[in-house]
Amino acid sequence: MSTDRSDDRPDALHPDTLAVGFGYDPQDAFGAVKPPVILTSTFAYPSAAAAKQAHRDYFDGAGPGRDADFIYARLDHPGLALLEKRFAALEGAEDAAGFASGMAAISAVLLAHLKPGDSVLHTRPLYGGTHGLLHGPIAGIGVTPVAIGDALDAASVDEATDTASRHGPVGLIFVETPANPTNGISNIAMIARAADALAGRQSGRRPVVVVDNTFLGSLLQAPLKHGADLSMTSLTKYAGGHSDLIGGAVSGDKAMVGPLRRLRTLLGTHLDPFTSWLALRSLETFPLRNARANANAAVVAAFLRDHPNVADVSFLGFLEPGTPARAVFDRQCTGAGSTFSFRIRGGEAEAFALLDHLRVFRMAVSLGGTESLICHSASTTHYSVPPEIRREVGVDDATLRISIGIEHPDDLIADLASALEAIP
Ligand SMILES: Cc1ncc(COP(=O)(O)O)c(C=O)c1O
Repeated sequence: MSTDRSDDRPDALHPDTLAVGFGYDPQDAFGAVKPPVILTSTFAYPSAAAAKQAHRDYFDGAGPGRDADFIYARLDHPGLALLEKRFAALEGAEDAAGFASGMAAISAVLLAHLKPGDSVLHTRPLYGGTHGLLHGPIAGIGVTPVAIGDALDAASVDEATDTASRHGPVGLIFVETPANPTNGISNIAMIARAADALAGRQSGRRPVVVVDNTFLGSLLQAPLKHGADLSMTSLTKYAGGHSDLIGGAVSGDKAMVGPLRRLRTLLGTHLDPFTSWLALRSLETFPLRNARANANAAVVAAFLRDHPNVADVSFLGFLEPGTPARAVFDRQCTGAGSTFSFRIRGGEAEAFALLDHLRVFRMAVSLGGTESLICHSASTTHYSVPPEIRREVGVDDATLRISIGIEHPDDLIADLASALEAIP
């Protein structure tokens, strides 16, 4: 099945249209309106010479291209190639690579660009898994992670850059914006400028700037347009959207993405055919789900803000006009999304009482699904982050993270209202 059509012009279509059919031609699959799931681990070569050419293209090229002949499903397969093509179109990127999870995507990016003796800059807070990877196995191979105190402030970025440089050349800057779970904003363009400046000090070696775009998703933030080299997302969240698959993707220029696809082959972290199909099917309703969840979230956030048992709400729509965060948000993002945290008055006991009383919300980690989810960050998603760092970055025992789904907003508010009243 070819996934390449010369009349495919992603820039000529709206995301809603791209999400439904981009990159697929029914004539490639017996006229089937929907792409098939191709369950095969290996692909027959038409001739010995074609076999040699396929391997030459894959291994000697700049990086395996999306339209190369298929060899073996761990290297690439038609369903994944189609998903990557459509996802790249939604991201406004030249190319994308799909992975077995968001963490697999992050692992590939870090391993591709960091080597022993390097340092790595990162914003904070970070998703617990990313924090654990950077400060565990990546630190273990001799790479020093250094946090940027305030990624909206050029002086703070410079200070972190100087600290990191004392440990070794900065190989990569990892930016999670908005941050999980605080919705803290980083200025991508400013960080890209800092990477340019570092190139001058590191004999031309420019750190790769990668943005974890999981918290807002492709439809509300386009990191590549703001100077990121790579945009990473957990497909498990908004793109997958039904809390029934695990996947990840990285988008960027072909020259940046091709080597990640080749590394994925060595790590064995491709996205399998059935999950690729499921993710592609999910993309079709991505814009619809996003619009509904965002509208619901605005209503729920306003309810929480006005409730006497709630201390504060980190919904992006509430960023104060005139603040640096608001200015960057207005430039960088096209919506406030549907995942945010709020702090109740009290601590762990009060938070747990609220959680145990909810009936419509599911108490679970993850976000971006059709159903509304809630969890206590300090004891779940950020459990492995040391308590002093949690406190520094604003994740305390009263913090609850909430991901709003597509249910009726009145039912969500009624559920929260009753649970807030149940707090002793
Ligand atoms: C911001 C962020 N990045 C990365 C990940 C990891 O994604 P996955 O669970 O698909 O590996 C998550 C998961 O919650 C996340 O919230």
